[in-house]
Amino acid sequence: MLIALKEVSKTYKMGEVSVKALDQTSFMIDKGECVAIVGPSGSGKTTLLDIIGCLSRPTSGDYLLQGQAVQDLSDAELARTRNKKIGFIFQTFHLLGRNTALVNVSLPLFYAGHAREERLGRAETALSTVGLADRIHHRPNQLSGGQQQRVAIARALVNDPEIILADEPTGNLDSKSGQEIMKLLLDLNKKGQTLILITHDRDLAERTERTLTIKDGRIVDDIRR
Ligand SMILES: Nc1ncnc2c1ncn2[C@@H]1O[C@H](COP(=O)(O)OP(=O)(O)OP(=O)(O)O)[C@@H](O)[C@H]1O
Ligand SMILES: [Mg+2]
Repeated sequence: MLIALKEVSKTYKMGEVSVKALDQTSFMIDKGECVAIVGPSGSGKTTLLDIIGCLSRPTSGDYLLQGQAVQDLSDAELARTRNKKIGFIFQTFHLLGRNTALVNVSLPLFYAGHAREERLGRAETALSTVGLADRIHHRPNQLSGGQQQRVAIARALVNDPEIILADEPTGNLDSKSGQEIMKLLLDLNKKGQTLILITHDRDLAERTERTLTIKDGRIVDDIRR
């Protein structure tokens, strides 16, 4: 089992007010699965993805990543796990505006401690994989939205992570670029990468083999096609 959540809850406390964003959520995801997470705004999707991606910890319950209890890891171990095992893709790309595509994609390898030559070589390969071999020296503002998201995908891939997590990856793209990005993600999944993506787009969600529906912090539906 790649991912196992057991009665995971997450409560955000803000002064007197507390919000239960996840409420005793339990499910498992196997290596190689392709899963869409859908649900209304505020239902807990991003909170859930952040926990799966080791960006935050559950308030209660257990999260096992490849059998390892994430709550037992120190902050440094959590960060290392995230860098090694998880590739993140965001709606708004999160690229560094002053750096070229090549440098943006090579950054996770820098944090993982690889030498410069290896970083640039692997970044170039990842950019080729997403069809941007001829744009490696472009900066984000010299690229289209779809191309910027491809750079972000290359950055997510460059460490060869176990899991790719995408939070509304097509949310800022026109429908044609969105379709292309979705195809790219599904192709990566076919090659063996586990893919978990949040989407508001029912058509995109239906192209995955499994859809988890979340409402008020609880999984209310789990469909396999
Ligand atoms: N850092 C935070 N501090 C306090 N409350 C938060 C925080 N992050 C999220 N919340 C609250 O937790 C609930 C779930 O938020 P979350 O971002 O997971 O929803 P979502 O399903 O991703 O929504 P959307 O589709 O709008 O992105 C919401 O009620 C939100 O207001
Ligand atoms: Mg969200």
